[in-house]
Amino acid sequence: MSANWSPTSWRTKKVEQAPVYPDRDRLADVETRLRKYPPLVFAGEARNLTRALGEVAEGNAFLLQGGDCAESFAEFHADNIRDTFRVLLQMAVVLTFAAARPVVKVGRIGGQFAKPRSSGTEIQNGVELPSYRGDIINGMNFDAASRTPDPERMVHAYTQAAATVNLLRAFATGGYADLHNVHRWTLGFISGSPAGDRYRALADRISETLSFMEACGITPESTPQLRATDVYTSHEALLLGFEQALTRVDSTTGDWYDTSAHMLWIGDRTRQLDGAHVEFCRGVGNPLGMKCGPSIKSDDLLRLIDALNPANVPGRLTLIARFGADAVGEHLPRLIRAVEREGRKVIWSCDPMHGNTIKAGNGFKTRPFERIVKELQNFFAVHRAEGTHAGGVHFEMTGQNVTECTGGAMAITEGDLSSRYHTHCDPRLNANQALELAFLIAEGLKAERDISAKFRAAE
Ligand code: TRP
Ligand code: MN
Repeated sequence: MSANWSPTSWRTKKVEQAPVYPDRDRLADVETRLRKYPPLVFAGEARNLTRALGEVAEGNAFLLQGGDCAESFAEFHADNIRDTFRVLLQMAVVLTFAAARPVVKVGRIGGQFAKPRSSGTEIQNGVELPSYRGDIINGMNFDAASRTPDPERMVHAYTQAAATVNLLRAFATGGYADLHNVHRWTLGFISGSPAGDRYRALADRISETLSFMEACGITPESTPQLRATDVYTSHEALLLGFEQALTRVDSTTGDWYDTSAHMLWIGDRTRQLDGAHVEFCRGVGNPLGMKCGPSIKSDDLLRLIDALNPANVPGRLTLIARFGADAVGEHLPRLIRAVEREGRKVIWSCDPMHGNTIKAGNGFKTRPFERIVKELQNFFAVHRAEGTHAGGVHFEMTGQNVTECTGGAMAITEGDLSSRYHTHCDPRLNANQALELAFLIAEGLKAERDISAKFRAAE
């Protein structure tokens, strides 16, 4: 167990991005209540995820992580959860097929409510109010009542997360994710798109293969792997009072786990070595992610790795690179070399979203699809050059037919942004764009596979 750590030790450190609750007694009361609520996930599941991610770290599997930038109370609906799940399944199938390797599926879902902000307050027409920090903290409307942090929202977030995780488990194991349903995961609006056509062709091949295997006696009854999948949950561990309240001792190992999600990540704004977020995360047994932006120094990265994964367990730590399309080549090689030199086992995952956000001419925050593609391509190219494994991707995406990122095969223009712009925070890939990216990554993975096959043949 980590030295000098307890679920409350983060409280002695500087807490970046902390909301200011006017009523401290109510905050304490809510946190006490939450401590009695059942865990949302089990420690054993978090350990299974670490094991699966360990295979990613060793180069034998691929990580697919994605979901909303911010979940919201208003858009909580079974259809939204199902549609995000469907796109994740479709992407996973495409990637599994191309890589011929397991794909570890992790949703940004079931707890992704708290958002870091660049400024603590926002001014509109001369009025200054606290910034919106996500539905678990305050409301988006620009009035004093909504913007005042309300602890009761944590209970609301907990119950929504519980229902979301419950539905995901049902989808993952109850038959919906059976590979025989590979054609049924296609959303209506995707079916006429280029990515939709490509997907149908792939799904045909998989169906054919399944029929062949069935004739050989390999059926969902004989082989449960065909009819179920593992989908894990994750979110940014930002609101530490909430995370602490869900942190419990695992009775089988005696170790602490944050049972609010299987995997937690630390944001680029809260990864200070001596800060509260690193302190909290280092002590829980869950697999961790850490966002790495252009400001991270190679030495600091190594020290953070020491703090978060002192035993060098493969799968414990995923570094989520988010540099922006043009800065990948400048930063990623130096960080990879530092990690390799020290023999550190990490997963390198690419977040091609957060370094490529711009303001469109009409004021909408957007992300051009070609910049997202460029960052992914650069990420894969650097790993090819360094001889390391491009281990995963981290997307902000939705199953809905939104118009938030420009471009893609359906050519969303800046003028289209206003038509279906629904995000509570950052612009997300829609289902078409997400699937298109999956095919693109599939090509990168196939190239990696061909290179290692050649390498093996030459040995
Ligand atoms: N169980 C395997 C896996 O999760 C195969 C599988 C079943 C699958 N349903 C799936 C793969 C849906 C991708 C999507 O990888
Ligand atoms: Mn975001």
